[in-house]
Amino acid sequence: MVAFHAVVLAAGQGVRMKSSIPKVLHSLAGLPLVAHVIKAATAAGASSCSVVVPPDANGFEALATPIETRFFEQRERLGTAHAVLMAREAVAEVSGPVLVLYGDTPLVSQESIRNLAAAVENGADVAVIGFHAKDPKGYGRLVTSKAGELLAIREEKDATPQERALSLCNSGIMAFRANLILPLLDRIDNKNKAAEYYLTDAVEIARSMGRRVACEVIDEDEVRGVNTRAQLSEVEAILQTRLRLRAMDGGATLLSPDTVTFSHDTMIGQDVVIEPNVFFGLGVVIEDGVTVKGFCHIEGAHIERGAIVGPFARLRPGTRVGPKVKVGNFVELKGADIDEGAKVNHLSYVGDTHIGAGANIGAGTITCNYDGFRKHKTDIGAGAFIGSNSALVAPVRIGEGAYVGSGSVISKDVPANSLALTRSPQVHREGWAGRLRARHKDKGNHSK
Ligand code: UD1
Ligand code: MG
Repeated sequence: MVAFHAVVLAAGQGVRMKSSIPKVLHSLAGLPLVAHVIKAATAAGASSCSVVVPPDANGFEALATPIETRFFEQRERLGTAHAVLMAREAVAEVSGPVLVLYGDTPLVSQESIRNLAAAVENGADVAVIGFHAKDPKGYGRLVTSKAGELLAIREEKDATPQERALSLCNSGIMAFRANLILPLLDRIDNKNKAAEYYLTDAVEIARSMGRRVACEVIDEDEVRGVNTRAQLSEVEAILQTRLRLRAMDGGATLLSPDTVTFSHDTMIGQDVVIEPNVFFGLGVVIEDGVTVKGFCHIEGAHIERGAIVGPFARLRPGTRVGPKVKVGNFVELKGADIDEGAKVNHLSYVGDTHIGAGANIGAGTITCNYDGFRKHKTDIGAGAFIGSNSALVAPVRIGEGAYVGSGSVISKDVPANSLALTRSPQVHREGWAGRLRARHKDKGNHSK
């Protein structure tokens, strides 16, 4: 794999998104658009990265990237060549190929990026990724010789009618030999219809210098850009299709794939069954043999072998569902650590809690983990049985094998193998109902 430097252009304001956050920080399968590009570049061999950002933008400082990343502001938006030159300082230091990518084009695959870097490694001075556009309007056209060599990229505004008729378009993704990129970019002017410094002019300039220019062609879906919320949803749909296929290729059954939403990092094992209408947020791992029944919302949770979750379960961050555990309908787990074979089957809130192996948590059990100021822990021992409609007021421990009678409010630790009961004793008054009815009858009252 060829190590290279990536320059990611992201200085567009994204006006059409109608948003207070920069366009490239909008989320796609749980990850900002620009982070998808950096992730793909990293997987393809990028060892460092420059991101060209709009002036005074918020949110970029929080962007987590897997490689060394520097941010450069572009104060005036004077064109793509001008944007790349904002990263001059970083580009001047590198020795391998320099790849230019767009922060709003998140679906580009690592293979396509790797192939472009390899084209430079294999002798090209400039390399371009093209695609056949269904509707070429607005794109730069790739002008080729009869032999198929790339001669120039013509922006639509500057193209002749013959050039406009071409359907092979510029994706915008380009690669340069390190020692050539700055001399080439410094020769680009803005004498064109848009009065912009076009990065694409680098092709004609390189050729006029007798340099080698290469071109790779990829599928249009990979170069789809995001300018509007509608386009964001289209790109999300394409990515979700890919993620569903990845899960199914990995051995999972999705009963209704179109209704399952994954995050970019969702990990799904073999022989997993996912019923319709399930949402996976960030940081979910589903091990082999797990069944996720319909209408579950799961984030930041690790579900171990053979567990059954749902329908209608909500698993929140910090949750581990152990092997063969059952989590049933209308159960919310947050920071719950549940050991093998335990059951939380109906209508419960379990937060900041450890549940030992084989314990049974009855319907309607609530762990009261919050006192209005701080969160507290509950520990339920292995084999314990919590009766329905119990409230466990944390911090509290239920010993191994202990029973909690239904309807109890438990605020003190319960010893192992004992019964804890806080409800008031049941009393019977024999014949009471009959006497009541007789009294009312005497007064002439009728029940309504
Ligand atoms: C560009 C290409 C065109 C290609 C198309 C693919 C040029 C001159 N044209 O056109 O050949 O077919 O992309 O989508 O390169 N940007 C900056 N600073 C700037 C200008 C742009 O950061 O000063 C960023 C934008 O945020 C965007 C990318 O560069 O991510 C492309 O800019 P855009 O204005 O969309 O270029 P196009 O006219 O679409
Ligand atoms: Mg564009």
